[in-house]
Amino acid sequence: MTRASRLSRCPLPFLCALAGSLVAAPPADLERRIDQLLARMTIEEKLGQMSQGAFLGSPVAERDRQGIRQGRWGSFLNVARPEDRAEAQRTALNESRLGIPLIFGQDVIHGYRTVLPIPLAQSASWDPELVEQGARVAAREASSAGIHWTFAPMLDIARDPRWGRIAEGLGEDPYLASAFAAAMVRGFQGPSLDAPGSIAACAKHYVGYGAAEAGRDYNSAWIPEILLRQVYLPPFQAARNAGVATVMSAFEDLNGVPATGNEFTLRRILRGEWNFDGFVVSDYNSVVEMVTHGFAADPGDAALKGIRAGVDMEMTSTCYRDRLKALVEGGKIDGKLIDEAVRNILRVKFRLGLFDKPMPAAADRGALLAPESLEVARKLAVESAVLLKNDGAALPLSKSIGKLAVIGPLADSPLDQMGCWTGNGVAGDVRTFLAALKDTLGPARVLYAPGLKTAKDSSHDGFPAAIEAVRAADTALLFIGEDANMSGEARSRAYLDLPGAEQALAEEVAKVGKPVIAVIVAGRPLTFHDLAAKVNAVLYVWNPGTMGGPAIASLLFGDAVPSGKLTVTFPRTVGQVPIYYAHLNTGRPASPNGPRISPGIPINPLDYTSQYIDVDFTPEYPFGFGLSYTTFEYSNLRVSSPAIPMGGKLTVTADVANTGKVEAEEIVQLYTRDLSASVSRPVRELKGFRRVRLAPGEKKSVEFTLGTSDLAFYNARMQLATEPGVFHVWIAPDSDRGLRGEFRVTE
Ligand code: NOJ
Repeated sequence: MTRASRLSRCPLPFLCALAGSLVAAPPADLERRIDQLLARMTIEEKLGQMSQGAFLGSPVAERDRQGIRQGRWGSFLNVARPEDRAEAQRTALNESRLGIPLIFGQDVIHGYRTVLPIPLAQSASWDPELVEQGARVAAREASSAGIHWTFAPMLDIARDPRWGRIAEGLGEDPYLASAFAAAMVRGFQGPSLDAPGSIAACAKHYVGYGAAEAGRDYNSAWIPEILLRQVYLPPFQAARNAGVATVMSAFEDLNGVPATGNEFTLRRILRGEWNFDGFVVSDYNSVVEMVTHGFAADPGDAALKGIRAGVDMEMTSTCYRDRLKALVEGGKIDGKLIDEAVRNILRVKFRLGLFDKPMPAAADRGALLAPESLEVARKLAVESAVLLKNDGAALPLSKSIGKLAVIGPLADSPLDQMGCWTGNGVAGDVRTFLAALKDTLGPARVLYAPGLKTAKDSSHDGFPAAIEAVRAADTALLFIGEDANMSGEARSRAYLDLPGAEQALAEEVAKVGKPVIAVIVAGRPLTFHDLAAKVNAVLYVWNPGTMGGPAIASLLFGDAVPSGKLTVTFPRTVGQVPIYYAHLNTGRPASPNGPRISPGIPINPLDYTSQYIDVDFTPEYPFGFGLSYTTFEYSNLRVSSPAIPMGGKLTVTADVANTGKVEAEEIVQLYTRDLSASVSRPVRELKGFRRVRLAPGEKKSVEFTLGTSDLAFYNARMQLATEPGVFHVWIAPDSDRGLRGEFRVTE
């Protein structure tokens, strides 16, 4: 690794000395030191700090270099080459008047060179510790290439699988997403922002972006404050409590006010209630887009509304740098707001140690794809796969199987295996499913015929070869689902079915009469009822990343046992969307016995429930669901006390036994329901979870502690409070089943 030492080449020694002393300063002195720097800055330099540019040429274009020299940029994003980052940083440090470093941001969402499973998959591991390790891997690799800041984690609760960005989130549940939010922030930021291998995290997209109407990306969200506080804000608050350095304001219009101009969410909640002292960056062009929203009259008005709301740095659009100076000079805006924004940005730059951090001139190759990083990626892919069906113990397969037909467009497709944010992932690094299966069985026993070129392919031309392979084999593995470019940003779908001719291919394969295992590769919950009915087993592996091949092969052959559980409800049909487990009850809950329209007159009052007349109202697979190669039995629920006084605690315990033949891990879940409160409460809410490893025949007591503060919710006056009354509690394998107990909270 070549290193560019800024201080040794500093042309302005007094300023470098100033910067050096700032770094050395104890935290208490930080604000005073920032004051000293601020006092020397011109308005143009301040607005420069508040501006993030999109693309530097490669090599750095003279125009950009000039802008950096003049202090007109504070940051760049998604710069392709480490060399260009290093060059730009040298220019900022050595040739700009004040030598203020740039901060380089990048979308390191689920890995940098080692691509981890997509975040939605990671959440299905229910393993925050492992997810933290995954973020650490990403941070180590990215920082070795001179990246200071990732635009992750994405903390948007999404309950609508039509929205393509559901792939980037951590599931539908605020409690679980909060646990992962904190884990990812810890992983990216490490013990401190200036520690080796640490990068600044960015909690995005603040806030409500996942509630886009009709699942269409960038669309408006209407979220009553009570729901905002109860469901959408908690993961952001968890990130803030874990010390997240930055926050990104979202694209969407929230309750009629764009999230980027939203004083209520940014100033009142983030800064006021949570005391966030990092900086807020807009999303890509989201400042100028306030004009398109019809919320700002022109770019100047957009700049005014952005800064008033508390957006410190503008990503890519240039309303701040072009318009704010005139607005200050014209008395339209108090210069103090500018100083405050710059202070927030400098604070993070100092905390990252950027003023004296040497820039690597090229990625440190040794830091990429390290064996221990690949191992974390592999484990995450193993733990995040969810077994949805396994009739007649079709899985695991025996390694002494004769021949295996490997069918489907996604069996050997590195890019699709990596998912929507491939980061700096390289197709050649990816160990595909097909390659891993050949490694396991030897190439001669694997008959590969994709049948389709891509998931979207609707041609049947490849079917005959696929059918021939299945005929010649003992079992067929069908790798179908979505191409990676069907999920992620701007990839909303109106249908959730298998695309192209995948269903037709599956039907032809099933007709052969051999056992068929479907391995579904996708960035969102799909609807595949007809497929599931025709195959013997379904393993949902999402986009599992670089190490997906070995991970999934180990599950298919029983070297590892599936343990992932869904963190998002799978609908039967897109018509049920939005569907999520923690819904309120209606006054007329639907009957579990299915839809009914009674014949004749008079109309039967029992029909008047919250049902669909054409499909069962329940999901295809509930939140929390996932099978194993063994079976688990839950028994003997104990609630330590029938009543707890406000402020007290109780324990809830159940025995969980492995009643099958293999050692395995079970994700044991704790849910509660508040039966009567000043506002209606969900039919169930997750309050705890634990991964428990059990040998065959082994039984363990799994105990959870519940305090009355864990039962708090926002009441109609927006106060977070627990109310006395009766609660149900479950220890459960998923959100639909479990052992139920009861207790009372007393005054
Ligand atoms: C737009 C996306 O919404 C955001 O998630 C991403 O970080 C930025 N583009 C930068 O690439």
